[in-house]
Amino acid sequence: MNPQEEALLDYCERHSTAEHEWLQMCVRKTHLKHLNPRMLSGHVQGRLLSLFSGLMKPNLVLDIGTFTGYSAMCLAEGLAPQGKVITLEEDVELERSIREHIAASPFADQIEPVFEDALLWLGNHAQLQPDIIYLDADKSRYPQYLPLLLSMMRPNSMLIADNTLWSGKVLDAGTTHKDTDTQAIDQFNKMLAAQEQLEVFLLPLRDGLSIARKKN
Ligand SMILES: C[S@@+](CC[C@H](N)C(=O)[O-])C[C@H]1O[C@@H](n2cnc3c(N)ncnc32)[C@H](O)[C@@H]1O
Repeated sequence: MNPQEEALLDYCERHSTAEHEWLQMCVRKTHLKHLNPRMLSGHVQGRLLSLFSGLMKPNLVLDIGTFTGYSAMCLAEGLAPQGKVITLEEDVELERSIREHIAASPFADQIEPVFEDALLWLGNHAQLQPDIIYLDADKSRYPQYLPLLLSMMRPNSMLIADNTLWSGKVLDAGTTHKDTDTQAIDQFNKMLAAQEQLEVFLLPLRDGLSIARKKN
């Protein structure tokens, strides 16, 4: 981010609902203990996830790519009374932090962490009908996730995918940026936009957030 983008994001944070204390603690501990704390969805994006969840009152949320639990906790904020978030993470070294952060939130009984390869796990649980799916895991396999996730979606369910602008590299996916991740994200964006069953909006927030709703 250039200085003006950083200043604008800071302004957005100061003029959005404050981060809950358990989320602030998750951010602090992630910075202290883990590499790449920038992977956290963060304050502004977290408030948007919470807002979607509050509007949808989901019974089931799939959070794909837990990292240290930030997005799972934001998405849990709007759950229906008996609702739950299943959050998928393949890196077992994150387990202790994830469990600690979730336990410190009000959603300890509503967030179920699963430590497995998400694509494999989803393939074995294709009968699930999530109301919200947040895709934020291995970018190179976004195109492989899509058919599986589409088959799980019901009318009005939402798919939210992070990093779909990939630092702007998608603009040059056909020329300078031929790396696997850029190619996969560009392919995913094209596949998503071509789905007639979906209403799709690529929001240029931070690294790009694709938001799709299954039509009735
Ligand atoms: C960008 S971080 C997720 C950030 C998190 N959603 C948040 O808001 O804080 C991506 C995470 O996906 C995990 N991941 C990558 N590939 C995965 C896979 N195939 N299955 C499950 N988790 C995966 C990584 O280990 C990493 O923790």
